[in-house]
Amino acid sequence: MYRIDILTLFPETVETVLSDSVIGRARAAGHIDFRAWQIRDYTLNRQHQVDDAPYGGGNGCVMYAQPLADCKRAVEADAGRSIHTIYLSPVGKPFSQQDSLRLAREYDRLILVCGHYEGVDERFIEECVDEELSLGDFVLTGGEIPALALADSVFRLVPGVLANDECFEDESHFSGLLEYPQYTRPEIWEGRAVPEILRSGNHAAIAKWRRLQSLLRTKLRRPDMFARLKFETKQDVKLLRELDEMTAGDEE
Ligand SMILES: C[S@@+](CC[C@H](N)C(=O)[O-])C[C@H]1O[C@@H](n2cnc3c(N)ncnc32)[C@H](O)[C@@H]1O
Repeated sequence: MYRIDILTLFPETVETVLSDSVIGRARAAGHIDFRAWQIRDYTLNRQHQVDDAPYGGGNGCVMYAQPLADCKRAVEADAGRSIHTIYLSPVGKPFSQQDSLRLAREYDRLILVCGHYEGVDERFIEECVDEELSLGDFVLTGGEIPALALADSVFRLVPGVLANDECFEDESHFSGLLEYPQYTRPEIWEGRAVPEILRSGNHAAIAKWRRLQSLLRTKLRRPDMFARLKFETKQDVKLLRELDEMTAGDEE
């Protein structure tokens, strides 16, 4: 069972989002578990204040190190061991599918720390955090949305959560490619037909079409990802030639 503990000022929000759909069902089936911990419960002051003005001046408030550290230590005391701890932060390393795979494979428990206001006292990060991850080059009000995104993307890689591994192995970013276009019923919608080949029943031709579409999309939409691809098989080299012909002179 894979478990994620989330340290937050908004435990209800976190619990509600993760209790729905695929992740909620996986929890009920015992494949994963999560718990949201209220950081405020670990304050030592009478007002349960969690933050204060920054030293040196400036806008807003910074979260105290002490309640964050005590909350993390309470999770670890409950578990009877230390747990890999991630602080979601806009100054962290950009989070990617490769991080999801690494976190799903290398750990069976994680602690995710959600900051708020102007962020958290740097000494908490130095003392208690193993890595800092960012959801992207933008700033959110709090770490809850990034923590939920990370938890969801790690949980769906845990065996048993999805119907089978192909569910995610085929998807965008798993092997450095964007996914091919997908279609469902009806065959014609508002004058637009599903590509003929997908209705042919020829599985080899469908697989080839999908791979070509994946390569095409990646080349046109994410040249940075395309440049990192390695074309080693004869089949891929042939597809690459087809792709060059398709994209010669025109962009999507
Ligand atoms: C308003 S932000 C603090 C921003 C901080 N003052 C800065 O400029 O880097 C409050 C909290 O939201 C979370 N957060 C905001 N943007 C994020 C992002 N892109 N990735 C991960 N966490 C983020 C962090 O936990 C952060 O402590």
